[in-house]
Amino acid sequence: MSKLTIANWKMNPRMVREAVRLARASDARGVVIAPPFPFLPAVGRTVNSAALGAQDVFWESEGAYTGGVSPAMLKALGVRYVIVGHSERRAHLGETDDMVAKKVAAALRTGLTPVLCVGEPLTVRRKGLTAAKRFVAHQLRADLRGVRSLVVSRRLLVIAYEPVWAIGTGRSATPKDASAMAQFIKKLSVVSCQLSVKVLYGGSVDARNVGAFLAEPAIDGALVGGASLKPREFKKMISIAEGYN
Ligand code: PGA
Repeated sequence: MSKLTIANWKMNPRMVREAVRLARASDARGVVIAPPFPFLPAVGRTVNSAALGAQDVFWESEGAYTGGVSPAMLKALGVRYVIVGHSERRAHLGETDDMVAKKVAAALRTGLTPVLCVGEPLTVRRKGLTAAKRFVAHQLRADLRGVRSLVVSRRLLVIAYEPVWAIGTGRSATPKDASAMAQFIKKLSVVSCQLSVKVLYGGSVDARNVGAFLAEPAIDGALVGGASLKPREFKKMISIAEGYN
């Protein structure tokens, strides 16, 4: 399975000009660029090889949902992937598993590939890998609840294992633990849905450690935050990922 590198720019950069410059430097096959909503059109026009991703989506297709962006609106802009259930949205915006499940299902129904983020907080990880697995299993079951009834087999579902304590902290999981979790997630998601599943690792991935994660056969790529905003570093990461394709 070819490796996927997703650039999650979060609420960066400040200006569309910088977004275009960053997109140009990140434009390669096997890369998904997920800029803030307002930069989607400009980034879409800039890239030739990279795919376009969004950082969120609403589950309804139209209506009185102030601030909402529908899956079809994203699709019309050329978006192919959409990040759903990122821990920052769960923490700062109170996004629940219920909401995440609706978003995953809505994305799939519209032909977008969801990038579902799951991962345990530090309090759980301190109890050990078994506790972390239990937490992730619970999240997965809840977040994929809407998928079972969909007739969308042969579609791709991306699941990013992102331990909350590793995001933006410079403290990544070990490749061995991330791989164990990726295998666990694959087994669980195959049981709960008929889709083909890729599992990525995310959480302080950079040019120094990305190779060790991608070398794990169970890990199909990386979801990259901070390092994706540094053009030279991200280019290095892309070329490392290309070595695994
Ligand atoms: P990070 O973020 O690479 O800065 O840790 C990853 C993410 O939040 O997706």
